[in-house]
Amino acid sequence: MSRSDSLLYWQQQQASIQGMMLNPEAEELHHYEQQQIISCLPNLSGNNVLEIGAGIGRYTTYFASEANSVTAVDFNQNFISKNQEINAGFSNISYQCANAINLSFAKEQFDFVFINWLFMYLEDDQVEIIINRITQWLKPNGHFFLRESCITDSKGNPPLKSTASDAQHSHFHSHYRDPQFYLALLGTNFYLVSQGNIKIYEEKYNNPNQLFWLFKKKIN
Ligand SMILES: C[S@@+](CC[C@H](N)C(=O)[O-])C[C@H]1O[C@@H](n2cnc3c(N)ncnc32)[C@H](O)[C@@H]1O
Repeated sequence: MSRSDSLLYWQQQQASIQGMMLNPEAEELHHYEQQQIISCLPNLSGNNVLEIGAGIGRYTTYFASEANSVTAVDFNQNFISKNQEINAGFSNISYQCANAINLSFAKEQFDFVFINWLFMYLEDDQVEIIINRITQWLKPNGHFFLRESCITDSKGNPPLKSTASDAQHSHFHSHYRDPQFYLALLGTNFYLVSQGNIKIYEEKYNNPNQLFWLFKKKIN
């Protein structure tokens, strides 16, 4: 799927929890997933946080309440606008409506980078480029949290063969990668601090492959 098709796809989704999670049971999933993910994050006090693919801000609010600053990026202006509306009470969030592949930040600007479901929508070479950039943007000992759907879609179904008519309704353009793909790219410059799977997806859909990792950048 080309980049403009991908943007079009997201522009067709609602600026809502359901639009973020692409699942009719999103409210319940959101509740349990958010609790679990937040419990796995490092202490963000005083941190400068970069959230890429932030959407409407299911996590932005937490970062703004805990950290010094948050830079929230998404390429869909509708989602950015909703995120701004939800988080209007915070003055420490800056927003960028931009494609993740076009971002540019100063070296060692951030203490923490957070990605929840973005790389699965990007091509392998794009993921590699962004990981290399994140490595530059993070301070030594900075943390990177990554969560992606691996192996299957979030309900545990193997990837569908795509047809043009699937485009409106399915996740056909997602890459449900082997987790080794991510681990191999991050292994050189990061320590693995912790890893796991999102339990609510295992309980509801018997899917153990909603995977997350918390990495710490090595000191050069
Ligand atoms: C499944 S949603 C997840 C949103 C949010 N991280 C969450 O967990 O609620 C994927 C998000 O990534 C954004 N996105 C997809 N491709 C992108 C790209 N190339 N650059 C920036 N944002 C992108 C979409 O607009 C959408 O907000």
